[in-house]
Amino acid sequence: MTAHADVHDDGERLSGDELAALQLQRLRATLHHAYERVPHYRQAFDKAGVHPDDCRSLADLALFPFTAKADLRDQYPFGMFAVPRSEVRRIHASSGTTGRPTVVGYTDRDLSTWADVVARSIRAAGGRPGQMVHVAYGYGLFTGGLGAHYGAERLGCTVVPASGGMTDRQVRLIQDFRPEIIMVTPSYMLTLLDEMERQGIDPRTTSLRTGIFGAEPWTEEMRREIEQRLDVDAVDIYGLSEVMGPGVAQECVETKDGLHIWEDHFYPEVVDPFTGEVLPEGASGELVFTSLTKEAMPIVRYRTRDLTRLLPGTARPAFRRMEKVTGRSDDMIILRGVNLYPTQIEEILLRTPALAPHFQLRLTREGRMDALTVRVEARREADAGRRKAAAAAVVRAVKDGIGVSVAVEVVDPETLERSVGKIKRVTDLREAR
Ligand code: DLL
Repeated sequence: MTAHADVHDDGERLSGDELAALQLQRLRATLHHAYERVPHYRQAFDKAGVHPDDCRSLADLALFPFTAKADLRDQYPFGMFAVPRSEVRRIHASSGTTGRPTVVGYTDRDLSTWADVVARSIRAAGGRPGQMVHVAYGYGLFTGGLGAHYGAERLGCTVVPASGGMTDRQVRLIQDFRPEIIMVTPSYMLTLLDEMERQGIDPRTTSLRTGIFGAEPWTEEMRREIEQRLDVDAVDIYGLSEVMGPGVAQECVETKDGLHIWEDHFYPEVVDPFTGEVLPEGASGELVFTSLTKEAMPIVRYRTRDLTRLLPGTARPAFRRMEKVTGRSDDMIILRGVNLYPTQIEEILLRTPALAPHFQLRLTREGRMDALTVRVEARREADAGRRKAAAAAVVRAVKDGIGVSVAVEVVDPETLERSVGKIKRVTDLREAR
């Protein structure tokens, strides 16, 4: 037993060399499994002129074709499964914004692996067996609720499966049950904080000590906002249903410096989003994942559309980190030739003291010109003069920092729609005319 026996599992104790050897062995097995069991992969590999035996080193993965969301949609519902349907123990699906949902499946062993990586994530966030976890990610086809749930049970925690919604009841449960940990989207955490304050509860006095937030992009400024108002350690959890669900990568509480990717199960690459070329560590691009242990639905070089970069490990030295995701390429707004992400606006708004962290972005077209209006709530104490000054300050900061002119509308507190799960920041009214 090492000194870290209570906080590190066997996978986390691997040396860099041991990890690389394990990854290569698992990668080769995954490529064979996919090729032999999934017609889509056989056709795609054959078309690219590669065979699983061509993978002799981890770098050889670059020879293999990418998998895109469209490939999964084309195989709707079960065409990507590599085991008989009777061995698929659970199905999840993500609705996406357009078209058919993406369906994913798990064998018994996949569900066990998933619980292990989520348990590892909760531990890295500072959670310990015996603590109580309030899960306010949605339960159902979305992977958030059930993924968090079984991971927390695996760690030996007491789980409160609250799911999303019924916000006043959530606050009551937190007051009465006294959980140490909450797992929820950061935007719904804000809704919960407002509700606590509405009920006259100072959020800093609750039992919560750890917040594990993910499923949507959020900024360092948002971390500060939540940590100050709730008196917790706020850490980031990342994942996607196509690769597993929550627990693909997790920020460690001791460093809060990006998310360690659980590389013994999920092999990451960062590629140039336009050319597909693999980029070196430290360069920003699109994150791509290959599963290393999945049985029901192996996934090879899946293009996540999430933008980040890879960095060396810190709190878990054998595992690389991914920087906090700044946005999805799908969420990028091109405004009169300038690219911008909602997180850039979030940073600016949260640095403006008169403004609350609730905002929406509205895209419109006036004549041939696109326009972006930032609608943001004022803090309760901000009077008309401070609101006006804040709006002008945001216009200036966006112009200086991002290089484009936007309109800013500061609205009354509690007038914008609240999130109960993943928030939708952008309303595009350009096509609606
Ligand atoms: O959102 C899984 C999840 C649930 C992760 C709960 C964390 C917590 P999907 O619905 O398939 O799965 O959506 C995956 O959400 O490609 C990212 O664009 C985004 N996303 C997930 N986690 C983060 C994060 C779940 N920590 C998509 N930061 C991903 C930024 C995130 N974006």
